[in-house]
Amino acid sequence: MTSILVLNGPNLNLLGTRQPEVYGTTTLADIEKLCAGWAADTGCGVAFGQSNHEGHLIDQIHAARGVHDGIVLNAGAYTHSSIALMDAIASVDLPAIELHLSNVHAREDFRHVSYIAKVAIGIICGFGARGYIMALDAMLAHVSDQKT
Ligand code: DQA
Repeated sequence: MTSILVLNGPNLNLLGTRQPEVYGTTTLADIEKLCAGWAADTGCGVAFGQSNHEGHLIDQIHAARGVHDGIVLNAGAYTHSSIALMDAIASVDLPAIELHLSNVHAREDFRHVSYIAKVAIGIICGFGARGYIMALDAMLAHVSDQKT
């Protein structure tokens, strides 16, 4: 069975109350439920994680090796700064999709830079919580293509 890790970075635990004009009112727990519903519908395994700590995110990426077939990563602000997270993705040889709730390219210039994009198979941004399902669909299709 295909299994996908959905990993969320700093400040995403505050979704629902954090800048709702930018990120909406859906909480991370709501998103986790959405992803669990998608998993039940598709038969694909989904594990869900969040950390505010760069090293802990890196540990979870390393631990995905041999356990999951792909990673959907909303690295939050670490997207724009973390060479270490980029290296972690590059090191585990798993496909990763970069995800953002907001359209980072319509925002401040510093959000236009992404280290994750350099090692991702693709990027989804600007579709709010629905983007998680879009990313899961895209990753499942990608992994299925690789297996055939
Ligand atoms: C975000 C976009 C990032 O620029 C920001 O730092 C976040 C959230 C998003 O999901 O839109 O924390 O990743």
